Amino acid sequence: MSVDVFVPADFTARALGADAVAAAVAAAPGVEVRRNGSRGLYWLEPLVEVATDAGRIGFGPLDAAAAGALFANGLPDASHPDCLGLVEELPWLKAQSRLTMARVGVIEPLSIDQYKAHGGFKGLERTRALTAPAIVEAVTEAGLRGRGGAAFPTGIKWRTVLETDGEPKYIVCNADEGDSGTFADRMIMESDPFCLIEGMLIAGLAVGADRGYIYCRAEYPLAIDTLAEAIRLAEGAGYLDGFHLEVRKGAGAYICGEETSLLESLEGKRGVIRYRPPLPAVKGLFGRPTVVNNVITLASVPAILAQGADHYRSFGVGRSSGTLTVQLAGNARRGGLFEVPFGKPLRWVVEDLGGGTASGRSIKAVQAGGPLGAYIPPRHFDTPLDYESFQAIDAMIGHGGLVVFDETADMGAMARYAFEFCAEESCGKCTPCRIGAVRGVEVVDRIRRGEAAADNRVLLKDLCHTMIDGSLCGLGGMAPLPVLSVMTHFADEL
Ligand SMILES: Cc1cc2nc3c(=O)[nH]c(=O)nc-3n(C[C@H](O)[C@H](O)[C@H](O)COP(=O)(O)O)c2cc1C
Repeated sequence: MSVDVFVPADFTARALGADAVAAAVAAAPGVEVRRNGSRGLYWLEPLVEVATDAGRIGFGPLDAAAAGALFANGLPDASHPDCLGLVEELPWLKAQSRLTMARVGVIEPLSIDQYKAHGGFKGLERTRALTAPAIVEAVTEAGLRGRGGAAFPTGIKWRTVLETDGEPKYIVCNADEGDSGTFADRMIMESDPFCLIEGMLIAGLAVGADRGYIYCRAEYPLAIDTLAEAIRLAEGAGYLDGFHLEVRKGAGAYICGEETSLLESLEGKRGVIRYRPPLPAVKGLFGRPTVVNNVITLASVPAILAQGADHYRSFGVGRSSGTLTVQLAGNARRGGLFEVPFGKPLRWVVEDLGGGTASGRSIKAVQAGGPLGAYIPPRHFDTPLDYESFQAIDAMIGHGGLVVFDETADMGAMARYAFEFCAEESCGKCTPCRIGAVRGVEVVDRIRRGEAAADNRVLLKDLCHTMIDGSLCGLGGMAPLPVLSVMTHFADEL
């Protein structure tokens, strides 16, 4: 009988040589190679897991030669000097609370049987016995908030779509994942695609929608292919009866992640934002009531329905209930994905789980929430990871991306970059964003050259507040946040 050996087929693991490792392992006798997703412990990838009676034991990171040598004399066991021990017992996994990511890295992504054996489709089953308002109530009770960035309560959004007349209604999944240092959406789509499909089906039942689109960034070819295949398999198994689901490739612009630009792009137009109101929940795709939710938001729904709103709420703090899929990137020693309950201190994630910087130097700042997020200095690292606590320090959690910078980072250059990014990515519809971002670069340059620095600092603050107050969407509205954070915490570097 052969033994299962797992080698991730996740895009990051592949970029690190997982396919060659899989081929080397497959050459060993008595081995059945299975391609799981990644556990998200990216510094250990390619991480090879060997099934044993006690659970899976891990070896990594391995290259093809090391993998070949490891299996040259038969199956390695836990007594092997390179064995990391039981994977589930690794401290960085054990410390997590995996609700949304429970199956990621565990199952083979396109196996419906394995999905079901690990609790998949249980939420959908329970949902089928509920009325639409009761489904909405369960999600509301759970306190689920949108993981795309704005943290809007999902139950309220769904109730609006449910109560708005207009057929057909749509479920649109925002898989544009444009924020720097984020990859949680990709991991779900590549490693547990049925979970997203199940979440969209539940959303459809909740609001009375029978069509869905997943708008996935074009830079995720593996996610797009995996989803397309998962949809085909789910259709074949009858799960999609009465619900039409498609994947659409994104248009390659950051602004297409903003929900109204995304809808324009889905309709085949240029990605330009729409005035709000009307909200997409009332007048969304093709003018119809539309749920637009992030991948992680939708992928969190099956567990809520399967295990109950109270169970979900038992994680997290205050109005930030459940778990946050933190993505640690940049100059982090242990970069990867950590699903943790809201309320854990930022320091615990960055220092204990992440191990500080890859460079070994001290941390100067962490940028939270993507390119439009604040730079947080170490003196705020005891801040709990929850929406309200972050707001209190003028920061945001956004999609859960944390990018680490060490002491060599030039924070003045980072402030300039925020405006540069906004100028590059602005859709051009509103003046504060289109023109403000360009003027912002110029003002930062003048300050850095020492030209009337005091006056230009006043001007810069004024410009930031004009953009915050006057922009039509979050691009112009939030680009000043990293700039203001540099002015507050790293004033002498501007
Ligand atoms: C400039 C900009 C870019 C955005 N990019 C994304 C994105 O890539 N993915 C995402 O899910 N939400 C993104 N959002 C947030 C969406 O507009 C919207 O709030 C989200 O899709 C709603 O889903 P949620 O409630 O599940 O978070 C972006 C917002 C702005 C202003």
